[in-house]
Amino acid sequence: MISCMIGSGPEQMYALLPRILTFARLACQGREGQEMQASTTAGAELRDWTASFARRTRTLGGGEITAILALAGATDVITFSGGFPDPATFPKDVLAEIAGRLVAQDVAVALQYSQTEGLPSLRDYLAGRLDALQGRRPGAGELMVTSGGIDCMELVAKSLVDPGDPVVVEAPSYLGAIMAFRGYEADLRGVPMDEDGMQVDVLADLLDAGLRPKVLYTIPDHQNPTGLSLAAERRPALVELARRYRFLILEDVAYRELGFDGTAPPSLWSLAPDVVIQTGTFSKTFFPGVRLGWAAAPPEVIAQLVTAKQNSDQCSGALGQRMLEEYGRGGHLDRQLVESRALYARRAELMGKALAEHMPEGTGWTTPRGGFFTWVTAPDGIDAVALSPAASARKVAYVPGRPFYPGDGGVSQLRLAYSRVEDDLIDEGARRLGNVFRTALQEA
Ligand SMILES: Cc1ncc(COP(=O)(O)O)c(C=O)c1O
Repeated sequence: MISCMIGSGPEQMYALLPRILTFARLACQGREGQEMQASTTAGAELRDWTASFARRTRTLGGGEITAILALAGATDVITFSGGFPDPATFPKDVLAEIAGRLVAQDVAVALQYSQTEGLPSLRDYLAGRLDALQGRRPGAGELMVTSGGIDCMELVAKSLVDPGDPVVVEAPSYLGAIMAFRGYEADLRGVPMDEDGMQVDVLADLLDAGLRPKVLYTIPDHQNPTGLSLAAERRPALVELARRYRFLILEDVAYRELGFDGTAPPSLWSLAPDVVIQTGTFSKTFFPGVRLGWAAAPPEVIAQLVTAKQNSDQCSGALGQRMLEEYGRGGHLDRQLVESRALYARRAELMGKALAEHMPEGTGWTTPRGGFFTWVTAPDGIDAVALSPAASARKVAYVPGRPFYPGDGGVSQLRLAYSRVEDDLIDEGARRLGNVFRTALQEA
Protein backbone atom coordinates (compact mmCIF):
# COMPACT_ATOMS: atom_id res chain seq x y z
CA MET A 1 0.00 0.00 0.00
CA ILE A 2 2.79 2.36 0.97
CA SER A 3 5.06 1.15 -1.76
CA CYS A 4 2.43 1.70 -4.44
CA MET A 5 2.39 5.41 -3.59
CA ILE A 6 6.06 5.78 -4.42
CA GLY A 7 6.96 7.60 -7.66
CA SER A 8 9.47 6.40 -10.20
CA GLY A 9 12.80 7.87 -8.98
CA PRO A 10 14.37 8.14 -5.54
CA GLU A 11 13.92 11.94 -5.56
CA GLN A 12 10.18 11.62 -6.16
CA MET A 13 10.03 8.95 -3.52
CA TYR A 14 11.78 11.11 -0.94
CA ALA A 15 9.71 14.17 -1.84
CA LEU A 16 6.57 12.17 -1.09
CA LEU A 17 7.81 10.83 2.20
CA PRO A 18 6.27 13.29 4.65
CA ARG A 19 2.83 12.34 3.32
CA ILE A 20 3.71 8.64 3.17
CA LEU A 21 4.92 8.74 6.76
CA THR A 22 1.76 10.41 8.01
CA PHE A 23 -0.29 7.87 6.10
CA ALA A 24 1.78 4.95 7.35
CA ARG A 25 1.62 6.11 10.96
CA LEU A 26 -2.13 6.33 10.81
CA ALA A 27 -2.26 2.92 9.15
CA CYS A 28 -0.07 1.48 11.94
CA GLN A 29 -2.25 3.03 14.58
CA GLY A 30 -5.30 1.27 13.12
CA ARG A 31 -8.50 1.96 15.01
CA GLU A 32 -6.78 4.26 17.46
CA GLY A 33 -5.61 6.33 14.50
CA GLN A 34 -9.07 6.52 13.01
CA GLU A 35 -10.53 7.64 16.31
CA MET A 36 -7.83 10.24 16.71
CA GLN A 37 -8.50 11.56 13.21
CA ALA A 38 -12.25 11.60 13.78
CA SER A 39 -11.96 13.60 16.96
CA THR A 40 -9.55 16.03 15.30
CA THR A 41 -11.94 16.50 12.38
CA ALA A 42 -14.81 17.13 14.76
CA GLY A 43 -12.79 19.86 16.54
CA ALA A 44 -10.71 22.56 14.92
CA GLU A 45 -9.99 22.67 11.20
CA LEU A 46 -7.66 19.78 10.19
CA ARG A 47 -4.19 21.18 9.59
CA ASP A 48 -1.40 19.74 7.52
CA TRP A 49 1.83 20.57 9.31
CA THR A 50 4.11 18.80 6.83
CA ALA A 51 4.92 22.12 5.16
CA SER A 52 6.52 23.21 8.45
CA PHE A 53 8.99 20.34 8.50
CA ALA A 54 12.68 21.24 8.17
CA ARG A 55 14.17 21.09 4.67
CA ARG A 56 16.40 18.13 5.58
CA THR A 57 13.36 15.93 6.31
CA ARG A 58 12.47 16.03 2.62
CA THR A 59 15.45 13.84 1.80
CA LEU A 60 14.62 11.23 4.41
CA GLY A 61 13.46 7.70 3.76
CA GLY A 62 11.29 5.92 6.27
CA GLY A 63 8.15 4.58 4.59
CA GLU A 64 9.65 1.11 4.21
CA ILE A 65 10.83 0.95 7.80
CA THR A 66 7.41 2.08 9.02
CA ALA A 67 5.83 -0.60 6.86
CA ILE A 68 8.24 -3.24 8.21
CA LEU A 69 7.57 -2.31 11.82
CA ALA A 70 3.83 -2.28 11.17
CA LEU A 71 4.11 -6.01 10.40
CA ALA A 72 6.10 -6.75 13.57
CA GLY A 73 3.14 -8.40 15.26
CA ALA A 74 1.30 -9.65 12.15
CA THR A 75 0.17 -13.26 12.47
CA ASP A 76 -1.67 -13.86 9.19
CA VAL A 77 1.13 -12.74 6.83
CA ILE A 78 4.30 -14.68 6.08
CA THR A 79 6.63 -11.79 6.61
CA PHE A 80 10.07 -11.92 5.03
CA SER A 81 10.26 -8.14 5.38
CA GLY A 82 11.82 -7.18 8.74
CA GLY A 83 15.32 -8.08 9.91
CA PHE A 84 13.89 -9.31 13.19
CA PRO A 85 15.60 -11.84 15.44
CA ASP A 86 13.48 -14.86 16.32
CA PRO A 87 11.92 -14.40 19.78
CA ALA A 88 12.97 -18.01 20.50
CA THR A 89 16.47 -16.56 20.96
CA PHE A 90 15.34 -14.06 23.61
CA PRO A 91 16.72 -14.90 27.05
CA LYS A 92 13.42 -14.92 28.99
CA ASP A 93 14.28 -17.06 32.00
CA VAL A 94 17.83 -15.89 32.60
CA LEU A 95 16.73 -12.31 32.15
CA ALA A 96 13.92 -12.58 34.69
CA GLU A 97 16.46 -13.74 37.26
CA ILE A 98 19.00 -11.05 36.34
CA ALA A 99 16.42 -8.24 36.31
CA GLY A 100 15.05 -9.31 39.71
CA ARG A 101 18.54 -9.39 41.18
CA LEU A 102 19.45 -5.96 39.77
CA VAL A 103 16.28 -4.34 41.03
CA ALA A 104 16.83 -5.88 44.46
CA GLN A 105 20.55 -5.20 44.77
CA ASP A 106 21.77 -2.60 42.29
CA VAL A 107 19.20 0.20 42.35
CA ALA A 108 21.73 3.02 42.66
CA VAL A 109 23.38 2.08 39.35
CA ALA A 110 20.83 0.09 37.35
CA LEU A 111 17.92 2.48 37.86
CA GLN A 112 19.97 5.67 37.65
CA TYR A 113 21.25 7.74 34.68
CA SER A 114 24.57 6.40 33.39
CA GLN A 115 27.66 8.17 32.07
CA THR A 116 27.08 9.22 28.45
CA GLU A 117 29.84 6.89 27.25
CA GLY A 118 28.24 4.01 29.15
CA LEU A 119 28.74 2.34 32.52
CA PRO A 120 32.44 1.67 33.19
CA SER A 121 31.75 -1.95 34.17
CA LEU A 122 29.93 -2.66 30.89
CA ARG A 123 32.66 -0.95 28.88
CA ASP A 124 35.21 -3.11 30.63
CA TYR A 125 33.22 -6.23 29.72
CA LEU A 126 32.80 -5.07 26.10
CA ALA A 127 36.49 -4.24 25.77
CA GLY A 128 37.36 -7.77 26.90
CA ARG A 129 34.83 -9.20 24.47
CA LEU A 130 36.26 -7.24 21.53
CA ASP A 131 39.73 -8.44 22.52
CA ALA A 132 38.56 -12.06 22.61
CA LEU A 133 36.56 -11.89 19.36
CA GLN A 134 38.55 -9.43 17.25
CA GLY A 135 42.03 -9.60 18.74
CA ARG A 136 42.19 -5.97 19.81
CA ARG A 137 41.22 -4.33 23.10
CA PRO A 138 40.08 -0.70 22.71
CA GLY A 139 42.49 1.69 24.43
CA ALA A 140 41.53 4.48 26.83
CA GLY A 141 38.69 6.58 25.43
CA GLU A 142 38.22 4.34 22.37
CA LEU A 143 34.91 2.73 23.33
CA MET A 144 31.39 3.90 24.13
CA VAL A 145 27.98 2.33 24.62
CA THR A 146 25.23 3.36 22.21
CA SER A 147 21.47 2.83 22.07
CA GLY A 148 21.75 0.21 19.34
CA GLY A 149 23.38 0.48 15.94
CA ILE A 150 21.17 3.18 14.49
CA ASP A 151 22.04 5.51 17.38
CA CYS A 152 25.70 5.25 16.44
CA MET A 153 24.96 6.03 12.77
CA GLU A 154 22.96 9.06 13.78
CA LEU A 155 25.80 10.25 16.06
CA VAL A 156 28.38 9.71 13.32
CA ALA A 157 26.28 11.56 10.75
CA LYS A 158 25.58 14.40 13.18
CA SER A 159 29.25 14.67 14.12
CA LEU A 160 30.90 14.37 10.72
CA VAL A 161 28.56 15.31 7.91
CA ASP A 162 27.98 18.85 6.72
CA PRO A 163 25.33 19.37 4.00
CA GLY A 164 26.74 18.21 0.67
CA ASP A 165 29.61 16.16 2.12
CA PRO A 166 30.18 13.02 0.05
CA VAL A 167 29.48 9.78 1.95
CA VAL A 168 30.12 6.44 0.28
CA VAL A 169 27.87 3.43 0.89
CA GLU A 170 27.62 0.01 -0.68
CA ALA A 171 25.01 -0.17 -3.42
CA PRO A 172 22.76 -1.58 -2.05
CA SER A 173 23.09 -0.73 1.65
CA TYR A 174 21.20 -0.71 4.95
CA LEU A 175 18.17 1.58 4.83
CA GLY A 176 18.68 2.92 8.35
CA ALA A 177 22.16 4.15 7.49
CA ILE A 178 20.98 5.71 4.23
CA MET A 179 18.32 7.55 6.23
CA ALA A 180 20.78 8.68 8.91
CA PHE A 181 23.16 10.17 6.34
CA ARG A 182 20.37 11.70 4.27
CA GLY A 183 19.07 13.27 7.48
CA TYR A 184 22.25 15.36 7.56
CA GLU A 185 22.07 16.11 3.82
CA ALA A 186 25.03 13.96 2.80
CA ASP A 187 25.77 13.55 -0.89
CA LEU A 188 25.43 9.75 -0.98
CA ARG A 189 27.51 7.82 -3.49
CA GLY A 190 27.13 4.08 -4.09
CA VAL A 191 29.90 1.60 -4.84
CA PRO A 192 28.68 -1.61 -6.48
CA MET A 193 29.00 -5.03 -4.88
CA ASP A 194 29.76 -8.47 -6.23
CA GLU A 195 29.88 -11.90 -4.61
CA ASP A 196 32.90 -10.72 -2.55
CA GLY A 197 31.25 -7.60 -1.16
CA MET A 198 32.07 -4.00 -2.00
CA GLN A 199 34.12 -3.67 -5.20
CA VAL A 200 37.13 -2.02 -3.67
CA ASP A 201 38.81 -1.62 -7.09
CA VAL A 202 35.84 0.44 -8.29
CA LEU A 203 36.13 2.57 -5.16
CA ALA A 204 39.85 3.04 -5.85
CA ASP A 205 39.01 4.28 -9.37
CA LEU A 206 36.44 6.74 -8.00
CA LEU A 207 38.95 8.06 -5.48
CA ASP A 208 41.57 8.28 -8.17
CA ALA A 209 39.13 10.30 -10.26
CA GLY A 210 38.70 12.84 -7.45
CA LEU A 211 35.96 11.57 -5.11
CA ARG A 212 36.80 12.72 -1.57
CA PRO A 213 34.35 11.15 0.89
CA LYS A 214 34.15 12.23 4.49
CA VAL A 215 32.92 8.78 5.54
CA LEU A 216 32.55 5.37 3.94
CA TYR A 217 29.88 3.15 5.47
CA THR A 218 30.19 -0.62 5.04
CA ILE A 219 28.71 -3.81 6.50
CA PRO A 220 31.53 -6.26 5.81
CA ASP A 221 29.92 -9.36 7.35
CA HIS A 222 26.64 -10.88 6.08
CA GLN A 223 25.47 -7.56 4.80
CA ASN A 224 22.00 -6.09 5.03
CA PRO A 225 20.37 -6.39 2.49
CA THR A 226 22.40 -8.84 0.37
CA GLY A 227 23.74 -11.34 2.92
CA LEU A 228 27.15 -11.02 1.22
CA SER A 229 30.50 -10.47 2.98
CA LEU A 230 33.62 -8.51 2.10
CA ALA A 231 36.34 -10.98 1.12
CA ALA A 232 39.31 -11.16 3.53
CA GLU A 233 41.75 -10.04 0.84
CA ARG A 234 39.76 -6.87 0.09
CA ARG A 235 39.89 -5.69 3.70
CA PRO A 236 43.52 -4.49 3.91
CA ALA A 237 43.08 -2.78 0.52
CA LEU A 238 40.02 -0.90 1.77
CA VAL A 239 41.67 0.41 4.94
CA GLU A 240 44.74 1.45 2.94
CA LEU A 241 42.49 3.57 0.72
CA ALA A 242 41.04 5.21 3.84
CA ARG A 243 44.54 6.05 5.04
CA ARG A 244 45.69 7.32 1.66
CA TYR A 245 42.64 9.46 0.95
CA ARG A 246 42.02 10.41 4.59
CA PHE A 247 38.44 9.32 5.16
CA LEU A 248 36.87 7.46 8.07
CA ILE A 249 35.33 4.04 7.57
CA LEU A 250 32.14 3.34 9.51
CA GLU A 251 32.23 -0.44 9.88
CA ASP A 252 28.87 -1.93 10.89
CA VAL A 253 29.30 -5.39 12.44
CA ALA A 254 25.61 -6.03 13.21
CA TYR A 255 25.71 -9.62 11.89
CA ARG A 256 29.41 -10.44 12.38
CA GLU A 257 28.84 -12.81 15.29
CA LEU A 258 26.08 -14.61 13.41
CA GLY A 259 28.28 -16.32 10.83
CA PHE A 260 26.90 -19.83 10.52
CA ASP A 261 30.28 -21.48 11.09
CA GLY A 262 31.21 -19.05 13.87
CA THR A 263 34.23 -17.64 12.01
CA ALA A 264 34.84 -14.21 10.45
CA PRO A 265 37.72 -12.53 8.60
CA PRO A 266 39.57 -9.78 10.52
CA SER A 267 37.37 -6.79 11.27
CA LEU A 268 38.34 -3.52 9.58
CA TRP A 269 38.66 -1.92 13.02
CA SER A 270 41.16 -4.55 14.15
CA LEU A 271 43.16 -3.95 10.96
CA ALA A 272 43.12 -0.15 11.16
CA PRO A 273 41.82 1.37 14.41
CA ASP A 274 43.29 4.70 13.27
CA VAL A 275 40.73 5.12 10.45
CA VAL A 276 37.78 2.95 11.47
CA ILE A 277 34.70 3.61 13.60
CA GLN A 278 33.17 0.26 14.42
CA THR A 279 29.48 0.16 15.26
CA GLY A 280 27.97 -2.96 16.77
CA THR A 281 24.55 -3.84 18.12
CA PHE A 282 23.13 -6.35 20.58
CA SER A 283 19.75 -6.23 18.87
CA LYS A 284 20.38 -9.41 16.91
CA THR A 285 22.32 -11.37 19.53
CA PHE A 286 20.70 -10.32 22.85
CA PHE A 287 17.32 -8.71 22.06
CA PRO A 288 16.27 -5.48 20.31
CA GLY A 289 13.95 -4.35 23.11
CA VAL A 290 17.03 -3.38 25.09
CA ARG A 291 18.41 -0.99 22.39
CA LEU A 292 22.13 -1.40 23.08
CA GLY A 293 25.25 -1.32 20.96
CA TRP A 294 28.78 0.05 20.94
CA ALA A 295 31.13 2.30 19.03
CA ALA A 296 34.90 1.74 18.94
CA ALA A 297 36.97 4.47 17.29
CA PRO A 298 39.95 6.81 17.74
CA PRO A 299 39.61 8.69 21.06
CA GLU A 300 38.94 12.10 19.51
CA VAL A 301 36.12 10.62 17.45
CA ILE A 302 34.58 8.87 20.48
CA ALA A 303 34.82 12.13 22.44
CA GLN A 304 32.85 13.88 19.69
CA LEU A 305 30.24 11.11 19.50
CA VAL A 306 29.81 11.37 23.27
CA THR A 307 29.20 15.12 22.92
CA ALA A 308 26.66 14.41 20.17
CA LYS A 309 24.91 11.85 22.37
CA GLN A 310 24.61 14.36 25.18
CA ASN A 311 22.03 16.26 23.19
CA SER A 312 20.15 13.27 21.86
CA ASP A 313 19.37 10.62 24.50
CA GLN A 314 22.21 11.67 26.86
CA CYS A 315 22.88 8.07 27.88
CA SER A 316 21.70 4.57 27.07
CA GLY A 317 19.48 2.95 29.70
CA ALA A 318 21.49 1.76 32.69
CA LEU A 319 19.15 -1.14 33.49
CA GLY A 320 19.70 -2.65 30.05
CA GLN A 321 23.43 -2.04 30.31
CA ARG A 322 23.65 -3.88 33.62
CA MET A 323 21.46 -6.73 32.29
CA LEU A 324 23.70 -7.13 29.27
CA GLU A 325 26.82 -7.12 31.42
CA GLU A 326 25.47 -9.76 33.81
CA TYR A 327 24.19 -11.85 30.92
CA GLY A 328 27.51 -11.65 29.11
CA ARG A 329 29.75 -12.23 32.12
CA GLY A 330 27.59 -15.23 33.05
CA GLY A 331 28.52 -16.85 29.71
CA HIS A 332 24.91 -16.77 28.46
CA LEU A 333 25.60 -14.58 25.41
CA ASP A 334 28.20 -16.97 24.02
CA ARG A 335 25.98 -19.99 24.72
CA GLN A 336 22.99 -18.33 23.03
CA LEU A 337 25.07 -17.37 20.00
CA VAL A 338 25.79 -21.04 19.29
CA GLU A 339 22.06 -21.77 19.25
CA SER A 340 21.18 -18.66 17.24
CA ARG A 341 23.73 -19.49 14.55
CA ALA A 342 22.28 -22.98 14.20
CA LEU A 343 18.73 -21.62 13.98
CA TYR A 344 19.51 -19.02 11.30
CA ALA A 345 21.73 -21.42 9.35
CA ARG A 346 18.83 -23.86 9.16
CA ARG A 347 16.41 -21.14 8.05
CA ALA A 348 18.84 -19.88 5.39
CA GLU A 349 19.13 -23.38 4.01
CA LEU A 350 15.35 -23.84 3.96
CA MET A 351 15.03 -20.48 2.20
CA GLY A 352 17.55 -21.48 -0.47
CA LYS A 353 15.73 -24.75 -1.11
CA ALA A 354 12.34 -23.04 -1.23
CA LEU A 355 13.55 -20.42 -3.71
CA ALA A 356 15.03 -23.13 -5.92
CA GLU A 357 11.68 -24.91 -5.84
CA HIS A 358 9.35 -21.99 -6.42
CA MET A 359 11.03 -19.06 -8.18
CA PRO A 360 10.43 -18.61 -11.91
CA GLU A 361 13.29 -19.31 -14.27
CA GLY A 362 15.75 -16.44 -14.57
CA THR A 363 15.53 -15.52 -10.87
CA GLY A 364 18.82 -15.24 -8.93
CA TRP A 365 19.50 -15.03 -5.20
CA THR A 366 22.43 -14.88 -2.82
CA THR A 367 23.45 -17.75 -0.55
CA PRO A 368 24.29 -16.16 2.82
CA ARG A 369 26.86 -17.70 5.15
CA GLY A 370 25.51 -15.80 8.13
CA GLY A 371 23.00 -13.16 9.17
CA PHE A 372 19.33 -12.78 8.33
CA PHE A 373 18.95 -12.05 4.61
CA THR A 374 18.92 -13.31 1.09
CA TRP A 375 18.77 -10.90 -1.83
CA VAL A 376 16.67 -11.84 -4.81
CA THR A 377 17.06 -10.58 -8.36
CA ALA A 378 13.87 -11.35 -10.28
CA PRO A 379 13.67 -11.60 -14.07
CA ASP A 380 13.36 -8.40 -16.10
CA GLY A 381 9.79 -7.20 -16.18
CA ILE A 382 9.29 -7.61 -12.43
CA ASP A 383 8.97 -4.33 -10.53
CA ALA A 384 9.24 -5.28 -6.86
CA VAL A 385 7.72 -1.99 -5.65
CA ALA A 386 4.70 -2.30 -7.95
CA LEU A 387 4.18 -5.94 -6.97
CA SER A 388 4.11 -5.51 -3.21
CA PRO A 389 0.31 -4.97 -3.08
CA ALA A 390 -0.14 -8.26 -4.99
CA ALA A 391 2.17 -9.94 -2.49
CA SER A 392 0.21 -8.46 0.42
CA ALA A 393 -2.99 -9.79 -1.11
CA ARG A 394 -1.42 -13.27 -1.03
CA LYS A 395 -0.32 -12.70 2.56
CA VAL A 396 3.40 -12.60 1.97
CA ALA A 397 5.68 -9.58 2.58
CA TYR A 398 9.16 -8.54 1.46
CA VAL A 399 11.08 -5.28 1.13
CA PRO A 400 11.51 -4.03 -2.46
CA GLY A 401 15.09 -3.37 -3.52
CA ARG A 402 14.92 0.25 -4.66
CA PRO A 403 15.18 2.12 -1.35
CA PHE A 404 18.38 0.22 -0.50
CA TYR A 405 20.17 2.09 -3.29
CA PRO A 406 21.46 5.62 -2.80
CA GLY A 407 20.64 6.34 -6.45
CA ASP A 408 18.81 4.33 -9.09
CA GLY A 409 18.77 0.56 -8.99
CA GLY A 410 17.05 -2.46 -7.53
CA VAL A 411 13.81 -2.30 -9.56
CA SER A 412 13.62 -6.08 -9.94
CA GLN A 413 15.30 -6.84 -6.62
CA LEU A 414 13.99 -7.56 -3.16
CA ARG A 415 15.20 -8.47 0.29
CA LEU A 416 13.92 -11.57 2.04
CA ALA A 417 14.60 -11.99 5.77
CA TYR A 418 14.31 -15.63 6.83
CA SER A 419 15.27 -14.92 10.45
CA ARG A 420 11.83 -14.79 12.00
CA VAL A 421 9.76 -17.03 9.73
CA GLU A 422 8.94 -20.41 11.25
CA ASP A 423 10.69 -23.29 9.48
CA ASP A 424 7.47 -24.79 8.16
CA LEU A 425 6.28 -21.48 6.64
CA ILE A 426 9.36 -20.66 4.61
CA ASP A 427 8.45 -22.98 1.75
CA GLU A 428 4.86 -21.71 1.68
CA GLY A 429 6.05 -18.08 1.68
CA ALA A 430 8.36 -18.73 -1.26
CA ARG A 431 5.57 -20.54 -3.08
CA ARG A 432 3.26 -17.53 -2.69
CA LEU A 433 5.99 -15.19 -3.90
CA GLY A 434 6.76 -17.42 -6.87
CA ASN A 435 3.09 -17.27 -7.84
CA VAL A 436 3.06 -13.47 -7.57
CA PHE A 437 6.07 -13.25 -9.89
CA ARG A 438 4.75 -15.81 -12.35
CA THR A 439 1.42 -14.04 -12.65
CA ALA A 440 3.21 -10.70 -13.21
CA LEU A 441 5.45 -12.20 -15.88
CA GLN A 442 2.48 -13.75 -17.69
CA GLU A 443 0.65 -10.44 -17.64
CA ALA A 444 3.70 -8.44 -18.84
C1 LIG B 1 23.25 -3.58 9.23
C2 LIG B 1 22.45 -3.08 10.40
N1 LIG B 1 22.99 -2.18 11.20
C3 LIG B 1 22.32 -1.68 12.26
C4 LIG B 1 21.03 -2.08 12.51
C5 LIG B 1 20.26 -1.40 13.61
O1 LIG B 1 20.49 -1.95 14.80
P1 LIG B 1 19.67 -1.44 16.06
O2 LIG B 1 18.37 -2.13 16.02
O3 LIG B 1 20.51 -1.91 17.16
O4 LIG B 1 19.58 0.03 16.00
C6 LIG B 1 20.43 -3.02 11.70
C7 LIG B 1 19.04 -3.43 11.98
O5 LIG B 1 18.35 -4.02 11.22
C8 LIG B 1 21.15 -3.54 10.61
O6 LIG B 1 20.61 -4.43 9.78
